[in-house]
Amino acid sequence: MADTATALKTYNDIPVLDWDLQNPEASSYDLFKEIRAQTPLVRVPMGMGSMVLALRARMVDQIVSPENTRQLETELKMMQGIFDGPILDFVAQVMLFANGDVHQRRRQPVARTFAFKLMEAMRPKAAAVAAEIIDDHLGKGPVDFLKDFAAQMPARIIADILGIPRVDLPVFMRWISDTAEAIGFVDLSRRADIEQSLTEFNAYVDQLLADRRSNPRGDFLSDYVAATAASGNLTEQEIRAQVVGLILAGSDTTRNSMCMTLSQLLHHPDQWEALCADPDGLKKKASEEGLRYEPVVSGIPRVTTRELEIEGFLIPPGAITMVSILSVLRDPEVYADPETFNIHRTDQQRWHLAFGAGAHRCAGEALARVELEETLAAIARLAPNTRVVGAAPRLNPGAIRTVDQMQVEFA
Ligand code: HEM
Repeated sequence: MADTATALKTYNDIPVLDWDLQNPEASSYDLFKEIRAQTPLVRVPMGMGSMVLALRARMVDQIVSPENTRQLETELKMMQGIFDGPILDFVAQVMLFANGDVHQRRRQPVARTFAFKLMEAMRPKAAAVAAEIIDDHLGKGPVDFLKDFAAQMPARIIADILGIPRVDLPVFMRWISDTAEAIGFVDLSRRADIEQSLTEFNAYVDQLLADRRSNPRGDFLSDYVAATAASGNLTEQEIRAQVVGLILAGSDTTRNSMCMTLSQLLHHPDQWEALCADPDGLKKKASEEGLRYEPVVSGIPRVTTRELEIEGFLIPPGAITMVSILSVLRDPEVYADPETFNIHRTDQQRWHLAFGAGAHRCAGEALARVELEETLAAIARLAPNTRVVGAAPRLNPGAIRTVDQMQVEFA
């Protein structure tokens, strides 16, 4: 029998790429294309050590499986020097950074109440909000699409789902933009401001929860507090953190994806014209291709919990291993002509990898899809001559990739 152990390569055999993940080069699809053809895994520098990047789609399930890996918990914040305070408390309480039973009991009441049916019911609302914003700006010259449209959509829709009065919207939006970083990489020079806003935000959500406990009104939050009461195994902090987590996880992601998809569509006039001719028929395909072509969440990081054999390499326990969403969504084993933006493609995956995979797969996918699809359909229908003004938006690198700027003229 062949000695497979000796045939296996070790962690140290994984090619090292001298790469700064905060550098724009780190998002270069050309680079991914070149490396992916040579190796399924690369190591990139991270802090004092390195992290393994998995580049091919066929490895995703193995890497996210709880039998092989676990989600990072508070260690990423601690590596940034955040050992206490509201940011750490939030990260310690939220489902995204939890594992096993803890993750399950935090996710279940949300999954039960933040359901597909409820999100589908938001479609007319999303279409109406998009139409209202377009109407405000139609034919009036350049508009800051990032701030005045793309940031507004997710905030207004989640505010509606949570039953937040319109008069509170400006402060609600400020909290979102101030605290969104808490979920990803924190700019430490802003830590005090973020924590101040997070404290106010928490207090506001506490009030909403208390209100629904005393006056249930058949909406999402009323159902959510009922579901958490029935399960009886969440602390007050955990109950609140899942609500704040939903708001934050759904803001930057949707906003940036909206910008990049619209920009790509306008950059491909034939595809934009096709969407304008049949907005309802093509909105799903257009948004799926936008999510594939320019994914806003760049990777799914995990820590190996046992020795793992991946594609002939042995990875030891305790190694940070990240599925590169940027790379797997352009894997030629899955997508024909992956470097081409094509809303007509027929090889989109049923479980779109832009939303992750496994136990932590995006809990807000249905809502994100509704918002993206209804935005594109509304612009195509009401302002088919819309154009980008000035430079096309670019995504800054990072765990959640953010758009630098985007101006459009609705016409
Ligand atoms: C274009 C929009 C979006 C994208 C690309 C996206 C992507 C993702 C990805 C990749 C993950 C998994 C992360 C991991 O496993 O490490 C995730 C998790 C999550 N997302 Fe989204 N998301 C989007 C919108 C939303 C929205 C609108 C909401 C809620 C309103 C939301 C709520 C969440 C939550 C709560 C989790 C954590 C799930 C868990 O840990 O069980 N996301 N998202």
